[in-house]
Amino acid sequence: MIKSPRGTRDLLPPDTALWNFVESTARDVFRAYNFQEIRTPIFESTELFSRGVGEETDIVSKEMFTWEDRGRAESDKGQSLTLRPEATAGIVRAYIEHKLADRGLNKLYCIGPMFRRERPQKGRYRQFYQIDAEVIGPPSSGSDSPARDAEILEMLATLLDRLGITDWNLELNSVGCPNDRAKFNEALRAALEPVKDKMCVDCQRRAVTNPLRVFDCKVPEDQPIIEKLPRISHFLDEPCRKHFEEVKQILRAVGVDFHENDRLVRGLDYYTRTAFEFTHGALGAQNAILGGGRYDGLSEALGGPPAPGIGFAIGEDRLVLSLQEKTPAESVLRKPDVYIAPVGAGMNVESARLARELRRTESLVVDLGDESFRLKKSFELATKAGARFILIVGENEVKANAFALKNHATGEQIEVPRADLARRIKGIA
Ligand code: HAM
Repeated sequence: MIKSPRGTRDLLPPDTALWNFVESTARDVFRAYNFQEIRTPIFESTELFSRGVGEETDIVSKEMFTWEDRGRAESDKGQSLTLRPEATAGIVRAYIEHKLADRGLNKLYCIGPMFRRERPQKGRYRQFYQIDAEVIGPPSSGSDSPARDAEILEMLATLLDRLGITDWNLELNSVGCPNDRAKFNEALRAALEPVKDKMCVDCQRRAVTNPLRVFDCKVPEDQPIIEKLPRISHFLDEPCRKHFEEVKQILRAVGVDFHENDRLVRGLDYYTRTAFEFTHGALGAQNAILGGGRYDGLSEALGGPPAPGIGFAIGEDRLVLSLQEKTPAESVLRKPDVYIAPVGAGMNVESARLARELRRTESLVVDLGDESFRLKKSFELATKAGARFILIVGENEVKANAFALKNHATGEQIEVPRADLARRIKGIA
């Protein structure tokens, strides 16, 4: 038997109802904050991620699905392509490529699959889904303002509330700007120099190439060393410190709780200033349901104009996992309002006509049986589908233009003239 590849999953009904509930709630909330949807390709040129996310990150150095294009055209040949491991770099590329700044488009969201070759476990997959939103624009649009950071975080709190997820924890930090980073890196290198030989090979390399990435290390033996390293909070320059204070001030004013965590640096190189994660207790080891932050230099790093930005990505798989306990998929699933049971030869035609009428006039959910089924089988199928009513379409009913409608829960059966059917099923007659 051929199975789905390691780290990928089929999302099946009824769970897909929960996924749709999450996505439609997110779209509603994003609309209220004036975000618009963008859809970027699922693969991009590899260089986009190595320059955007950073060579030394785990994502780029270990986890990307990359291949060399075999295209015949000279321009395709040998081009290195990568399945997107995240959405931000692609959105910023599109922002630059289509000069979205000129169109005033600076609040964008994107929902779709991402790919990372990680070791699969609960809440961690090789194909997973993100709900990503970004605010990006020229500095004159106020895109660097702490008000944008606070607005994004407040929007996330609103979205989680709307989904019924209450026990989240917002971890907040500022990772400063290139100015502070140079000083911080220097201090990190100095602190790592005497101890790096005791660390894992990755950290030994990071200590030289990109010391900030040492904080991404998961090796248990390295943690006591990492614990004692200098913290970024002591290196923030005055503008960064003030920016962070203002974000926190607005969050307090609008009542969004947070915890400061000055060890949170996030695993992607593009972050500047505000960085955050929302965690959820029920998830175990993979407890970050979303992460994000500011990336004021990313556009320039990708060859674009200055365009400060801030955004986040929700791990939809993890969000659904944390929802599942309280909100079973069944509770958001729209079950059939009525199951139409054609009884006897020639009844498929009349049943199809009725089904079309009901579906169109009242947008009812209608399931349709077959004239070859015995009535008993139709009842069983209607039960399995969870239909509220069963409508019996036999020769006598068609002649009388009135149909037997049985309420599945109460067992009550009544004759209903054709013209009243939709209203009866809706429960308004
Ligand atoms: P990230 O922290 O790498 O950030 O991913 C965001 C979220 O995606 C994580 O918090 C997690 O919930 C989910 N996630 C990541 N990897 C996996 C996986 N293998 N399986 C399941 N879920 C996963 C970013 O991707 C940034 N682009 C976020 C961002 C947007 N920053 C600014 N704008």
